[in-house]
Amino acid sequence: MLNSNVINILLVEDEEFDVNRVKKTIEPFADRIVIADVVSDGNDAIKYLKEKQSLYDVVIMDFNLSGGIMGEKLIQKIKEIEPSVQIVVITKMTINITDYNFAQRLMKAGAFWYCTKYPGDIEEYIYQPTDFILSILNAYEKSKIEKAWGKSNQKLIKNVEDILYQKRIIGQSASVQNLKHEILKYAQSDVNILISGSSGTGKELVAYNIHYNSSRKFENFITINCGSLPQDLIESELFGYEKGSFTGADKRKPGLFEIAHNGTVFLDEITELPLSAQVKLLRVIQDGELEKIGRTDRVKVDIRIIAATNRNIEEEVRAKRFREDLYYRLNVIYIKVSDLKERKTDIPILIDHFLSFYSQSMGKEKPSIDSGALDLLVNYDWPGNVRELKNVVQRMLFVDNDVIDEQSAKRALGAFFYEDENRGIDDFEAIFKKNELPLSQMEKTVREKYFTYIRKNSSSDTEAAKKLGLAPSNYYRMAKELGLK
Ligand SMILES: Nc1ncnc2c1ncn2[C@@H]1O[C@H](COP(=O)(O)OP(=O)(O)OP(=O)(O)O)[C@@H](O)[C@H]1O
Ligand SMILES: [Mg+2]
Repeated sequence: MLNSNVINILLVEDEEFDVNRVKKTIEPFADRIVIADVVSDGNDAIKYLKEKQSLYDVVIMDFNLSGGIMGEKLIQKIKEIEPSVQIVVITKMTINITDYNFAQRLMKAGAFWYCTKYPGDIEEYIYQPTDFILSILNAYEKSKIEKAWGKSNQKLIKNVEDILYQKRIIGQSASVQNLKHEILKYAQSDVNILISGSSGTGKELVAYNIHYNSSRKFENFITINCGSLPQDLIESELFGYEKGSFTGADKRKPGLFEIAHNGTVFLDEITELPLSAQVKLLRVIQDGELEKIGRTDRVKVDIRIIAATNRNIEEEVRAKRFREDLYYRLNVIYIKVSDLKERKTDIPILIDHFLSFYSQSMGKEKPSIDSGALDLLVNYDWPGNVRELKNVVQRMLFVDNDVIDEQSAKRALGAFFYEDENRGIDDFEAIFKKNELPLSQMEKTVREKYFTYIRKNSSSDTEAAKKLGLAPSNYYRMAKELGLK
């Protein structure tokens, strides 16, 4: 029976005489300390450790063993197999010697303690038995702590693996393969990265992949959408404020940069950041210092910044809407995510991926897709890129068929899609005729298309919101509801 309080020992000793001495020394503590196994050489020790995973808390090992692996090599090997196991070395070598050098070698190899077993004429116990017993008890405590630490560490690693799986980048095209390669390469370094690409291409996904592949992966990853924060709140959100720094500041507020300390900040739609906040951001990047509202001294932070934009940021710099110095600081490494229409081979793979994903989450059998539908989808332009494709797949799944055909693909692409390129834009009747839809669905389609059209023809989301007559927060909410964000 495994008792959680019992200390399980693996004894590695090749001399019968010494095995008996160890056993006798431990005997009075038999209810606490149990010699689970005795082996006479290093190779057997390794075999037992591998076979009886996590059984042993402490290994007691003779330093000099005949045959096979021994000494420091064996210590290192044991720690490699079972890092939390603690090793108490018993040796004849150091009786009455203050041999610091030897002790240092043992500790460096990973041993917990060492005891001498001389003089050879003592048959009943190991020399200085109380030291020996105490070292076992202490070794056990340490192994418990290290086991617990190892478990929580494993949990963290598991979490990161889960996130990386959920956020995996689907696609086989040369451009996606290159993107994945760049992510792994740049994740290791700590430099700032600027990601550009049209809306829905996967910029945020790239940022996630960089953070969770970097050495900061166990720290916070904070996403800040610079366009969705109201202009008057942006600085207090980003940099925080001290209690009493203005009317209404009834308690200290940490900014998002402070919360992200040691981690990564993802600044989405960076061109939307007001100029005053750009100055403060520059200071964070240059000096690692936060300027909190109402505070004279600075707060130090260590963060990596990944910024993203779907606008032409150089143009913003030229128009003096974006600081040039900040642009260079952010753009240390530049990653471009290409439009979906430029990597058409990924389209069938993405469709298949989302079909599997959504049919599973809807508890449906995965439908197949016929070649007509697939041709249509591969040749479509995808102005909303992967996000649009994801929405279209979801819509296709609402049609209760085993096979998705061209007709249902067309419906899913929306009321405005049909083959006749030459039709007039305002030919509403032609549109309706081909797509008799419930009013709510038609309304949604019209909104979605109009939103997309306005966004495409505006220089920023702020401008788009203005054109649509919407407050920024409503604009973002609606864009989200329409699946455009
Ligand atoms: N290669 C891909 N594999 C799997 N999913 C993807 C891929 N590219 C994008 N997506 C998915 O498409 C959606 C849009 O991606 P994301 O939010 O990263 O785009 P974005 O470039 O940040 O868009 P925006 O500029 O509008 O903010 C997300 O749900 C994302 O998970
Ligand atoms: Mg985004």
